[in-house]
Amino acid sequence: MNKIPFNSPFLTGKEIEYIQDAHQNGQLAGDGKYTELSSSLISKLLGSGDTYLTHSCTAALEMIAILLDLRQGDEVIMPSFTFVSTANAFVLRGITPVFVDVDPITFNIDPSKIEDAISSKTKAIMAVHYAGISCDMDELISIAKKYNLKVVEDSAQALLSKYKGQSLGTIGELSAFSFHETKNVISGEGGALVINESTFLERAEIIREKGTNRTKFFRGEVDKYTWVDIGSSFLPGEIISAFLYSQLIEARSITDKRISHWNKYHKYLKSLELEGKIRRQIVPDFCEHNAHMFFIILNSLDERTQLMSYLKSQGIQAVFHYVPLHSSPAGIKYAKSIGSFDNTHTASTCLLRLPLGCNVDVERIVDAINKFFMS
Ligand SMILES: Cc1ncc(COP(=O)(O)O)c(C=O)c1O
Repeated sequence: MNKIPFNSPFLTGKEIEYIQDAHQNGQLAGDGKYTELSSSLISKLLGSGDTYLTHSCTAALEMIAILLDLRQGDEVIMPSFTFVSTANAFVLRGITPVFVDVDPITFNIDPSKIEDAISSKTKAIMAVHYAGISCDMDELISIAKKYNLKVVEDSAQALLSKYKGQSLGTIGELSAFSFHETKNVISGEGGALVINESTFLERAEIIREKGTNRTKFFRGEVDKYTWVDIGSSFLPGEIISAFLYSQLIEARSITDKRISHWNKYHKYLKSLELEGKIRRQIVPDFCEHNAHMFFIILNSLDERTQLMSYLKSQGIQAVFHYVPLHSSPAGIKYAKSIGSFDNTHTASTCLLRLPLGCNVDVERIVDAINKFFMS
């Protein structure tokens, strides 16, 4: 019996050709031909925004935490149900993440929970587009305007998703994407910072180049480069960028293939939902999604554990996440939590992610799920 892994990275077949070209060009450090090609293509795919490639989404989030110029003790509101980097990037700068619950439909930050979490120290709201499905951006922006806060998008999972026709990652002032091998478009590790507010541009360039004005020097705008701000080495080398470029060219077709599998899951699992056995993923009308993930919600943790182990016995790897950050050891130490976390708890205990990629045998997986519920 063939195993179905949870994640099968999709390769376009052009990766090695572009890497070979980068090798022949002889510039292997960052900001060469492929960094330029990839970053311009990302901005083109998004329809707006200035893109800076980074070596991960985590790095882009760390750049955002510096760019926002917050002080020790300032606060950023975010969902507890997210990947650790959303919070850790801020903690590294002495900023306090303030966790709130997610909504029960999308498991994105619940806008109705945000106002209770706002204090005089609040500076920003993190819109994490879980599973590539958009947060309710109008709601978030109207709260942000009322309290003079920035909106940052953690678009790690959201390349090519849209909110009311506008690309995710281009709505908040700043946003971060991931090209980790588990994402739709990949480079092993990789990421991008997208800037939608031009006042951040000059400083971003410096922060990304170890706090120096080296990029200006390369453009001939200064006669020597020097240390001008805080920063780090946030840029990827050309080998990674060349790999990424081959993937970005195929971004639309990769997404369309994933959507066709997502649609099959959605269709085939309808009857189990009607029988009350599971709940399928819900995409709000305001969102055009990128099929980053297909998940189901079981009725209990026990049932999820049993289904997971049944699928494993059938050679199918299904997985769950996240341990809620508000209850994690570092979350308790470094962050604040406001209100109850009932929906975060449901997501963390009852959500099961099914294998999804460009080539996945949805029929076999659905068949196994049906058999589990018949037994
Ligand atoms: C919501 C979210 N934010 C940030 C990250 C971090 O991405 P990376 O692994 O590229 O640093 C991830 C990775 O899965 C994520 O899902």
